[in-house]
Amino acid sequence: MFTLDGRLAVCASLVRKGAKLADVGTDHAYLPVWLAKNDSITSAIASDIREKPLRSGADNIEKYGCSEIVAARLSDGLDAVLPEEADDIVMAGMGSELICNIIERAPWLKDSDKRLILQPMTKAHILRKYLLDNGFEIVSETPCAHGGKNYTVILARYSGIIMKAESSFYYMGRLDPADHLSRDYMKGVLSKIYKKRNGISVTGGDTSELDGVIAEIIKLYGDDINDSSQRYL
Ligand SMILES: C[S@@+](CC[C@H](N)C(=O)[O-])C[C@H]1O[C@@H](n2cnc3c(N)ncnc32)[C@H](O)[C@@H]1O
Repeated sequence: MFTLDGRLAVCASLVRKGAKLADVGTDHAYLPVWLAKNDSITSAIASDIREKPLRSGADNIEKYGCSEIVAARLSDGLDAVLPEEADDIVMAGMGSELICNIIERAPWLKDSDKRLILQPMTKAHILRKYLLDNGFEIVSETPCAHGGKNYTVILARYSGIIMKAESSFYYMGRLDPADHLSRDYMKGVLSKIYKKRNGISVTGGDTSELDGVIAEIIKLYGDDINDSSQRYL
């Protein structure tokens, strides 16, 4: 049996025991197979938009003898998944814009009994803002590391309450700055904001919005969140 990488291990830990799972963008289907082998789920749809990754997922489902629990399904987002087939929905290893788009196209996710377990590879601030703007509550965030990079796993559920937050929240989320891995993630986020801000600055653009975000983050989390290699140009 294989072990899950840092990202998928956190996602797996957030899936409720006995849940019906949908793993959107499953590729190799490691997550549903691992959960099935560990008797953690009742059923799973392992879905992918492309035939080739889905084939590799289907091969693993067969190889590890999980076909009674895990079904591979070709689907663009959740288009081919029925609401009653999924309690917990994982979207891992995808960009935030794509995750937002998949949520947007599945209005049945607006159900407080459903759990969204989201591991964006890029621009998590876009995803956090989308969730809050659309009545999803960010219940928790868990940091994880994979391939020398830091990520967050967002656990969200529908509350129906539209929330507005400070810019710093969209960038740093619910991560605990006292936690070592979370702080590494936060430093990386700040470094990217500086990079973007400095890019705007060299082309003569208006940096005031990002300057405000940087100031807010440093005020909230302290100056040691600054990576010395990325500061104002
Ligand atoms: C980088 S892989 C991530 C695999 C796995 N979830 C993980 O985190 O290790 C992204 C997968 O998402 C799939 N994908 C991209 N857009 C999708 C969509 N709209 N609906 C379903 N799957 C999609 C890709 O085909 C690819 O297999």
